[in-house]
Amino acid sequence: MSPEESILEDVRAVVALSPDVDDAALAREVDRAGRARGLVLGSDARARLTRVVRDAVLGAGPLQRLLDDPDITDVLVNGPRDVWVERHGELRPTSVDLGDEAGVRSLAVRLAAVAGARLDDAQPAVDARLPDGTRLHAVLPPVADAGTLVSLRTVRSEAFTLDDLVASRSLAPALVPVLADLVRVRANLLLSGPTGAGKTTLLASLLSLVPPDERIVVIEEAGELRPRHGHVVRLVARRANIDGAGTVTLSDLVRHAMRMRPDRIVLGECRGAEVADVLTALNTGHDGGCATVHANAAAEVPARLQALGALAGLPREAVVAQAAAAFDAVVHLRRGTGGRRHVAEIGLVRAVGDRLTVQLALAADPGGAVLRGPGWDELAARLGAM
Ligand SMILES: Nc1ncnc2c1ncn2[C@@H]1O[C@H](COP(=O)(O)OP(=O)(O)OP(=O)(O)O)[C@@H](O)[C@H]1O
Ligand SMILES: [Mg+2]
Repeated sequence: MSPEESILEDVRAVVALSPDVDDAALAREVDRAGRARGLVLGSDARARLTRVVRDAVLGAGPLQRLLDDPDITDVLVNGPRDVWVERHGELRPTSVDLGDEAGVRSLAVRLAAVAGARLDDAQPAVDARLPDGTRLHAVLPPVADAGTLVSLRTVRSEAFTLDDLVASRSLAPALVPVLADLVRVRANLLLSGPTGAGKTTLLASLLSLVPPDERIVVIEEAGELRPRHGHVVRLVARRANIDGAGTVTLSDLVRHAMRMRPDRIVLGECRGAEVADVLTALNTGHDGGCATVHANAAAEVPARLQALGALAGLPREAVVAQAAAAFDAVVHLRRGTGGRRHVAEIGLVRAVGDRLTVQLALAADPGGAVLRGPGWDELAARLGAM
């Protein structure tokens, strides 16, 4: 064991007893462990070791410097020497070396523990959130075929403003007043898009526009949404404990939220039977609500809502009628070539005969040009009248 490794071991033992130490306390522990081994550390060596210790003991180890890079959005571990990052929308391999499969596995298990979740042979997959908000997903073999897989998605501590999104060419300037008006008139919004298209990010930006005297109740699977707003309360779903008890579902939380004097009920991601509760909430006088839903195109949103409604046992006609009445607009995000995310469409959810449709009101191309669609007049009327 190198002197560095032995210091790491000593500090790890101390931190295990008091996991909420700050950097200054860690630096003192590093000093102490060094002295105990007859080493006098210079300030550079102490700062470097403190960082190594912090990353190894409290953070994501060798992955921490990737997570700390503001340009990196995803860190994906496929194997000890097969670590990828997404930077500016592009997926690239890195030279990070995690040793061997045992190293990857123990990192995954430790991260899960830091996130307050369990990861072991009995529960080989975890979806949780690290204390800094980073979303952790990990799967152990044999469910992960070739070895432990870890997927980390960073979160920004500060929401983008709509102007930031315009500056990064994710949002056409002409859409800014439309989105701001949708929030102002308390429209019920459904944000749709494929995985990683920026739905949660845009939702945080829009919620930052909510007037400061309104109370936002956010319901999430893992607390990801960080709007810039002074009055946000958050409910996070809970899985069953080891005995199978104690589950709190998103459906439960939507019903709780209605009793919490919300001005806006926000469902981070609608991906199951909770759609029925959201439709009920939005149809019973709770306006200004928002939810995100996974859909590859705006035109697929109706089918997605139908499928989720079916999970809740809602008859088809009920989904058509309730969804058309509940949502004022769909805002669809897309990932274009080169991975750039952009707001591509704003549409209206409508019942046409016995079918649910999304009618295009505005379409933006990746260059920022905006065209009106057949739903524009109705959208403009809603924005003016609501
Ligand atoms: N407009 C943007 N510019 C730069 N980075 C962005 C933008 N939108 C999102 N991101 C980054 O991309 C990643 C994915 O964004 P986000 O979590 O909002 O996507 P999502 O559609 O909600 O994904 P999921 O389907 O997994 O819920 C995040 O790390 C986020 O910070
Ligand atoms: Mg999301």
